[in-house]
Amino acid sequence: MGMVEVRLESLSKQYGSVTAVDSVSLTVGQGEFFSLLGPSGCGKTTTLRIVAGLEQPSAGRLWFGDRDVTRLPTHERRIGMVFQSYALFPHLSVAGNVAYGLRARHEARADIGPKVERALERVRLGGLGQRRVHELSGGQQQRVALARAMVLEPDLLLLDEPLSNLDAALRTETRAELRRLQREAATTSLYVTHDQEEALALSDRLAVLRDGRLQQVGTPREVYSQPANAFVATFLGRANLAPATVAERVGDTWTVRLDNGEHVTGSGHTDLAPGSRALLCVRPESLVPAESGLVGNILDIAFIGQRYEYEVSLAGQRWLACEANRGQSARERGATTRWAVEPDAVRLLPYEEVSCDGVAEP
Ligand SMILES: Nc1ncnc2c1ncn2[C@@H]1O[C@H](COP(=O)(O)OP(=O)(O)O)[C@@H](O)[C@H]1O
Ligand SMILES: [Mg+2]
Repeated sequence: MGMVEVRLESLSKQYGSVTAVDSVSLTVGQGEFFSLLGPSGCGKTTTLRIVAGLEQPSAGRLWFGDRDVTRLPTHERRIGMVFQSYALFPHLSVAGNVAYGLRARHEARADIGPKVERALERVRLGGLGQRRVHELSGGQQQRVALARAMVLEPDLLLLDEPLSNLDAALRTETRAELRRLQREAATTSLYVTHDQEEALALSDRLAVLRDGRLQQVGTPREVYSQPANAFVATFLGRANLAPATVAERVGDTWTVRLDNGEHVTGSGHTDLAPGSRALLCVRPESLVPAESGLVGNILDIAFIGQRYEYEVSLAGQRWLACEANRGQSARERGATTRWAVEPDAVRLLPYEEVSCDGVAEP
C-alpha cells in the first residue's frame, strides 16, 4: 500500500474573470489526514479536482513526492475518490460496485472476490455484497463508495464532502468510521468540507480557504486557538472580536486598551507594536464570571444543558460568554458582573472593521 506526500505549489485556477483558486501552496504529509475547510464557493472542490487531474491549473505545479504530476492523467495518479453523491452504479450489486475498479484493472478473477469481501468487512458491510445498492441506507451507501475507493489501495484518497448527504446522527457515526479506516490504512487523505466541526474532529491538519486564498494551515488546536485573522477566528467556532489599541508589550505579554478604556492583558506572540490598532479575540469559553475583570451586564441567558450561555453587554458590544453547568443556579438577566479573560486564551489579530455586536459567527 502506498502513501504519498502531496505538494501544491502556487496553484491557481481561473474561470474567465473568476479566480477559483488563488496561488495556493501547501504540503500534505505521507499518511496524513488533511482537510480543506471554507465556505461554499471558496475553491475547495476546484483544488481537489486539480489534485485529481480532473482540472488543469491555470498556473502552478503539483507534486506527488519528488514527481511533478501537474500534467499526469487522472488514471495514472493512483488516487481514490469519494464524493458527496455516492455515485454508485445502481444496476450492480454492492460487491459489483466494489469490484468495478479491480475488473477495470484486469486483476486476476480469483483475487477479486477475497479483496472485495475484505474491503466490505473493513467498512463493516461484510456479508452484504449481494445486496442491491438501493437496499442500503445512505450511510451504508457512502461506506460502499469508500470501500470501492479503498479496495484499489490508492496512494492518495480524495474526499469531497462525503458526509453532507447524511442526517446528523449518521454523519457523526460515519465520521468516526472514516477516521478509523483512514488510520488503519494510513492512506494520505485530502478531505474537503465546509463543516468546521467535521474538519476539527477528523484532521491531523487543516487549511482554511477564503475566496480561493489560503488563510491558515495548522493542526485543529493551532487554528482554533491561534487564528491568523478575524475570518479564521469566526469560521472556526465563535469569537468575540473587539477593536483595541496595544498599550504595552513586554516579551510575549501584552496589554490592550479597549475603546471604552478598559484594559485586557494576554500572552502569546504578536508583531503589533504599542500604539497599533488590533482586534482582541476572546473565545466565549475563555470569558468567565469572576471577582474582578471587565464590567458586563447580562442581556440574555440560554441554558444548553452542559453549560450556560450568556449574552453580555461589554465594552460597548454584545459578547458571548459560557459557564460550565456544575449544578449551580443560573445567574440573573440584567445582573451586572465582572468577567475575567484568561490571558493564555486570548489573541491579538490584525485590525479590521467588525460589526458592532462583536460576536461574529459564520
Ligand atoms: N467549471 C466552472 N466554471 C466556472 N466557474 C466555476 C467552475 N467551477 C467552479 N467555479 C467557480 O469557482 C469558485 C469556486 O468553486 P468551488 O471550487 O466549487 O468551491 P467550493 O467547493 O469551495 O464550494 C466559485 O465561484 C464557482 O462558481
Ligand atoms: Mg465544493
